[in-house]
Amino acid sequence: MTSAHQGLTGLLDTEAIRKDFPLLDRTVHDGKKIVYLDSAATSQKPRQVLDALNAYYERHNANVHRGVYTVAEEATALYEGARDKVAAFINAPSRDEVIFTKNASESLNLVANMLGWADEPYRVDHETEIAITEMEHHSNIVPWQLLAQRTGAKLKWFGLTDDGRLDLSNIEEVITEKTKIVSFTLVSNLLGTFNPVETIIRRAQEVGALVCIDASQAAPHMVLDVQALQADFVAFTGHKMCGPTGIGVLWGRQELLEDLPPFLGGGEMIETVSMHSSTYAPAPHKFEAGTPPIAQAVGLGAAVDYLSAIGMENIARHEHAITEYAVRRLQEVPDLRIIGPTTAEDRGAAISFTLGDIHPHDVGQVLDEEGIAVRVGHHCARPVCLRYGIPATTRASFYLYSTPAEVDALVAGLEHVRNFFG
Ligand code: ALA
Repeated sequence: MTSAHQGLTGLLDTEAIRKDFPLLDRTVHDGKKIVYLDSAATSQKPRQVLDALNAYYERHNANVHRGVYTVAEEATALYEGARDKVAAFINAPSRDEVIFTKNASESLNLVANMLGWADEPYRVDHETEIAITEMEHHSNIVPWQLLAQRTGAKLKWFGLTDDGRLDLSNIEEVITEKTKIVSFTLVSNLLGTFNPVETIIRRAQEVGALVCIDASQAAPHMVLDVQALQADFVAFTGHKMCGPTGIGVLWGRQELLEDLPPFLGGGEMIETVSMHSSTYAPAPHKFEAGTPPIAQAVGLGAAVDYLSAIGMENIARHEHAITEYAVRRLQEVPDLRIIGPTTAEDRGAAISFTLGDIHPHDVGQVLDEEGIAVRVGHHCARPVCLRYGIPATTRASFYLYSTPAEVDALVAGLEHVRNFFG
């Protein structure tokens, strides 16, 4: 700790935590220690998760729900055990409300397609409306555009304020009596903004619309309690929360999962099949056609154990301290403009910015020479860039293993970028 770090409270013991993450120990560009500031894109993986993946493949690999032999039963128990862990992690009332998908995009596409094939009272057609926001990741825009194109439904959205928040001033025009579904992100992947869930859900409930929440940037960082949220669907992905790639989650309210039709058909999701018709297994299996991502689910279960042992409240507190420090230090860099909230209140640990007129790709490349890994571009949220009249941003994002010293390294790296480009 340097004197600049005095007064930062709530930090985790990152020295101990970082020992769990092998990648954080590596170097790039002739021995420069990596400063990994791209956890919003994907987090690094602790040894505990890597060990669980290895143990699964080395000792328990078999297909699930099919075999009667010992190893197949072990594989099924591990896969279904991961479902129990995820259900407990998000405080789901029932494990049967947890559907495994391959990522959050698939989870959101699944909701759009459940509704796209549904009968009344869920049916989406040319007389109905869908509400989203301008700060969504493409994965929470494109599935709704596709659904609107297919059904003739009208797609509406909340705009953004100049300081990177949702503009809810016209909430009664965006969510109307015709709205069937409101889908929005809990935390913006580009702006970092926390959204006012309660206000949006209250209005959705007034008009009887379903609510779908993209929690991809929330689940890794804070307590996610689906009962407290009071939404109908919650989607997130495993690889941003210390789990492997290839595993996502869709939580949905049980009665909806019972009523709504499946999207993908195949093995595993059926009860009986004849050449004329089929009946379906109960949820969650109704929505998990084919061999599921077994090892990935087991890895996600290990990630949930890892995060829970540290404590999501403690992780949130750590990230808040780092974010507060980073927001303050970044604003000391001349010509740097934060795109999104400029205080640590009501924001997460992904901070996007521009640096004068230096293109973010150039910023990213010079930072990489220093060993600093950030994401540059439109971050799959291009409408946000269009709203603020910029082609792209540089984004630094922090997680439970991030340190104040890494914030200092970023600030020094940005000074270097400024000198480099004169
Ligand atoms: N959704 C990920 C990000 O924001 C990939 O970087």
